[in-house]
Amino acid sequence: MRRGPALAGLFFLLGCTLAFAQGDAKRGEYLSKAGGCVGCHTDTRKDAEPYAGGRALKTPFGSFYGPNITPHPQAGIGRWTYNDFVRAMREGRRPDGENYFPAFPYPSFTRISDADLRDLWAYLRSLKPSARSSRPHELGILYRWRVSLYPWKWLFFDSGPFRPEPGKSAAVNRGAYLVQALGHCGECHTPRNLLGAPKKDRYLAGAKLGESTNAANLTPTKLKKYGDGELKDILTSGLYPDGDVMGETMGEVVRNTTSQLAPQDLDALIAYLRSLRPLPDEPK
Ligand code: HEC
Ligand code: HEC
Repeated sequence: MRRGPALAGLFFLLGCTLAFAQGDAKRGEYLSKAGGCVGCHTDTRKDAEPYAGGRALKTPFGSFYGPNITPHPQAGIGRWTYNDFVRAMREGRRPDGENYFPAFPYPSFTRISDADLRDLWAYLRSLKPSARSSRPHELGILYRWRVSLYPWKWLFFDSGPFRPEPGKSAAVNRGAYLVQALGHCGECHTPRNLLGAPKKDRYLAGAKLGESTNAANLTPTKLKKYGDGELKDILTSGLYPDGDVMGETMGEVVRNTTSQLAPQDLDALIAYLRSLRPLPDEPK
């Protein structure tokens, strides 16, 4: 009997199963870029440790600080199980059952596929543990209570992975996934109602983010003025065709995310934006 090949086959299968169960950290690294995780979870100081937290996120409700998500057992999420991670990303809940604030874009991340969550988790586990403590958020008195997030979630949050739309091409569906789930583009580019929830029928129609910061309308109404090549250049260089430098908010998204996408993913993202129903700009 030839035991060699049979055994090799068995180990190969075992290896595949383990890799599948454990996730692929290398793929996870790419998905982390597509999700812009490093930006919100890394301090802006030059010598800051990646993913060790400390980045301030200013909102009308106060300042949130991206927490340490390295595998440090006390300072980070080293004691978490994979299920804790899935609950955070898919349901916006902490291991103790409390709600996360949607400054953590889980209303988008809930759309991430099971396979991609597994790979992201494998990547986070592979990071160097950092002992830097997460900084508490500084929120207005009315917004401090995580309990107040229950009605918000009940009204506005629907959880569950992305479902491809039948009848749309594979590229458009891939682009939709990158934009809606990982890229969370709608968190800035979709206008919000008074309770801070995105207006669904105005998806990606553009939104005012601050005094002088406007996230552009990403539907064809605005983007049709660019060719595909121009749009690709904008999203990889952070420069507009006339040479103007993009504002810093989107500049960071370009640096951390869109310029890091594989060429076929960037093409897919653009194909999806082209497929959107043209919507008028949000009234000023
Ligand atoms: C726009 C900013 C932003 C982005 C992008 C972002 N996060 Fe976060 N994340 C936060 C904030 C803020 C919190 C804390 C929320 C809270 O305390 O309610 C958080 C919390 C978390 C937590 C829970 C940590 C804990 O200690 O409870 C995990 C895990 C996490 N993020 C993973 C990720 C991953 C993975 C990605 C990329 C796919 C990502 N985040 C992208 C802002 C962000
Ligand atoms: C943190 C907020 C934020 C996120 C997330 C974000 N954007 Fe933006 N985006 C902006 C802002 C602000 C501008 C306006 C930039 C300027 O003023 O130069 C912008 C501009 C753009 C433009 C230029 C449009 C034009 O003609 O002016 C494109 C294209 C774009 N974003 C695509 C995306 C895509 C695709 C994603 C998701 C991968 C994304 N953005 C995620 C804030 C954001």
